[in-house]
Amino acid sequence: MLSPQDIADVAVYLSKLPSPADNGRGGGQGLDAAARAYAKDCVLCHGAQGEGDEALFYPRVSHEHYRYLLREMIEIRDGVRRNANPRMVEVIRPMSDAQLDALADYMSRF
Ligand code: HEC
Repeated sequence: MLSPQDIADVAVYLSKLPSPADNGRGGGQGLDAAARAYAKDCVLCHGAQGEGDEALFYPRVSHEHYRYLLREMIEIRDGVRRNANPRMVEVIRPMSDAQLDALADYMSRF
């Protein structure tokens, strides 16, 4: 069992690890449409380069693995992962698997 302090220590440690140079990307289809969707629905919280907003607890989504991003977005859209911002759930809910795939690919290039 980790104490709250242990969890905080692990979080600080993980946040300071270097980002891998090759984080895994998608197939490169639909990136233009994904860029437009990101600029319209996501940039406000996650930032132009996926930097997020530490003060508001909006997570950084740069240097993330494409398959990880895709899985998390599907789970947030489908209500499996329930800790995202309700506004995010609203914008992501109508998106198709193909749209999320292209978005994950686009974001994996940040
Ligand atoms: C209103 C702010 C907001 C908007 C708009 C928003 N998000 Fe999020 N997003 C969040 C928050 C908050 C979380 C989860 C934070 C947590 O887990 O504590 C999150 C989580 C995520 C994650 C998971 C990150 C991880 O490391 O597990 C991804 C991927 C993501 N968002 C993508 C998107 C995409 C794509 C869009 C646009 C379609 C979007 N978000 C729009 C606030 C937002």
